[in-house]
Amino acid sequence: MIDPFGRAITYLRVSVTDRCDFRCVYCMAEDMTFLPKRDLLTLEELDRLASAFVAKGVRKLRLTGGEPLVRKNIIHLVRSLSRHLQTGALEELTLTTNGSQLARFAGELADCGVKRLNVSLDTLDAAKFKEITRWGELDKVMGGIRAAQAVGLKIKINAVALKGFNDAEIPSMIEWAHGEGLDFTLIETMPMGEIDEDRTDQYLPLRQVREQLSERWTLSDIPYKTGGPARYVEVAETGGRLGFITPMTHNFCESCNRVRVTCTGTLYMCLGQEDAADLRAPLRASEGDELLSDAIDEAIGRKPKGHDFIIDRATRRPSVSRHMSVTGG
Ligand code: GTP
Ligand code: 5AD
Ligand code: SF4
Repeated sequence: MIDPFGRAITYLRVSVTDRCDFRCVYCMAEDMTFLPKRDLLTLEELDRLASAFVAKGVRKLRLTGGEPLVRKNIIHLVRSLSRHLQTGALEELTLTTNGSQLARFAGELADCGVKRLNVSLDTLDAAKFKEITRWGELDKVMGGIRAAQAVGLKIKINAVALKGFNDAEIPSMIEWAHGEGLDFTLIETMPMGEIDEDRTDQYLPLRQVREQLSERWTLSDIPYKTGGPARYVEVAETGGRLGFITPMTHNFCESCNRVRVTCTGTLYMCLGQEDAADLRAPLRASEGDELLSDAIDEAIGRKPKGHDFIIDRATRRPSVSRHMSVTGG
């Protein structure tokens, strides 16, 4: 699959549920309306959909949510998709999770051929963790991370950099992650979906954070690549990898290799655009994948050049109306 800008699409992010057991303030409003269960694709349909992309050249699959591990019987889907690892069609099958259910699922995930997980964690302070996630418990996430490490899963911690919330804590979080042998990635907050708080005031450009970290440590650019948008440095003093995801200050759209599909079978060609394609109808229209394959080609044919995110200090309106949790990033 090659898009109009010559980019090969090899990475599919599949949101398996819009629900989550947390309510992170930068992601969701507290009072969210979720999809009725009858609107969700079944696990078999999600499998067929993801597999159609694999047949068309996708090499990396990431399950997201909401929180992917709250979808009932999610391990059935992971196990079934792992057949593409065995055939060599897929290079990586992985998840982005809030970690709350990891203690329960880590062993089974490793058993299915998952090698690496991304865990979202914005603070190491239990009270602040509760404040940012509204419903989460830090202890559970920490237990989940330990359980995942114990079964040999590699972990990358994702932290959204938020002014006045975790900026002062960033160096100690990096020290902790690197001390535990975890990669650590900082993310600029993206203006998606109406939330209860003011995202404009929370926005922290990572260029500034990087400069501050450079006064403390020696950061060297490294060519480490995962297929995702982070640009990595090595921190000489900790010996660990630190990634920067900078959609706002240094965007990475030129080398975009990914699209995302939601739990209702909607394909978003870009995280930062509203345009979408319905894949549920062609999926359900016939048992063969021909219609589906045509619909995918048509959609990839209108993948936009990049996002138009702006932190709009005048209107304070999000650039994209849907919440991040619709696609899980
Ligand atoms: P790796 O495989 O470890 O590189 O993971 P990843 O960065 O691809 O996935 P992850 O789910 O950890 O995403 C981290 C952050 O990057 C999330 O906040 C995503 O929303 C964001 N992100 C991922 N892909 C894109 C993209 O194409 N555009 C933008 N603007 N953000 C993205
Ligand atoms: N901007 C940037 N990242 C976000 N995430 C959730 N909402 C936002 C946002 N508005 C992050 C989560 C998780 C990843 C999938 O997306 O913290 O790490
Ligand atoms: Fe849930 Fe992730 Fe959104 Fe937090 S960022 S509410 S963990 S989907």
